[in-house]
Amino acid sequence: MKITLSNVSFEYSGRRVLENVSMEFETGKLYILVGKNGSGKTTLLKVISGLLEAKGNVFIDGTPADPLTLRKNVGYVFQNPSSQIIGATVEEDVAFSLEILGLDRDEMQRRIKRVLELVGLAGLEKEDPLNLSGGQKQRLAIASMLARDTHFLALDEPLSMLDPPSQREISKVIEDLKKEGKGIIIATHELEYLEDFDVILHMRDGRIDFCGSWEVFMDKGFEDVEVPFKWKLWKKIGKETKWEVEDADTFDER
Ligand SMILES: Nc1ncnc2c1ncn2[C@@H]1O[C@H](COP(=O)(O)OP(=O)(O)OP(=O)(O)O)[C@@H](O)[C@H]1O
Ligand SMILES: [Mg+2]
Repeated sequence: MKITLSNVSFEYSGRRVLENVSMEFETGKLYILVGKNGSGKTTLLKVISGLLEAKGNVFIDGTPADPLTLRKNVGYVFQNPSSQIIGATVEEDVAFSLEILGLDRDEMQRRIKRVLELVGLAGLEKEDPLNLSGGQKQRLAIASMLARDTHFLALDEPLSMLDPPSQREISKVIEDLKKEGKGIIIATHELEYLEDFDVILHMRDGRIDFCGSWEVFMDKGFEDVEVPFKWKLWKKIGKETKWEVEDADTFDER
């Protein structure tokens, strides 16, 4: 499946924050969206997810798609996970996001179990989400969206509230979802643990001013994005080379 944006613009009360964005997103690929605060990342993700209606054209597989159609095909996970959590327990929260799908009870239970395991929240089904840590709330928000099983996921800063071990774990979950065939667009400042991504997009003042591979991205050099040490290493020894280091974190800090 393919989502195509063609000359998409968006304004908040008369102020342009997306400016003629044209871009294509495919399932089975992981897109990283970077750019400094206020460059328009969240707005773009919300347009793709059908939460904001933009000017211009959006297509799914060549057919014009309205916001409702986009919402059915793209799951959006909010930058602040608390704003998404509504259930009185962890499992109820996931169940809420499934309600509109009209699944039978067994299928619902099956999905809840699967996504909570996937994000590492199994065992906390009966917990009040308010008692969860920031990182666990983030995992719950991701789980609730995953349960809907949409073709695309738009994740807004999903790693920002996590500690490094959790960032690594959730990065792995994200990469696995891509392998399963989902299209994933992730706005993030944390480039450290994501490895298996396909395209980097850079935003500046509401425009996408770069779209391409990490190698070219590094060569160009963007003053507002610090590339991880790991990329510099990839550049020297090749991304596919696996090197043996006991503790990669200690290694990174040198
Ligand atoms: N609800 C809103 N009303 C008015 N202006 C808004 C609103 N939300 C965002 N903006 C403005 O739109 C621009 C783009 O914001 P957006 O949140 O998309 O950027 P971002 O790249 O996600 O930033 P950040 O890295 O801080 O999350 C900013 O100038 C912001 O101030
Ligand atoms: Mg944002």
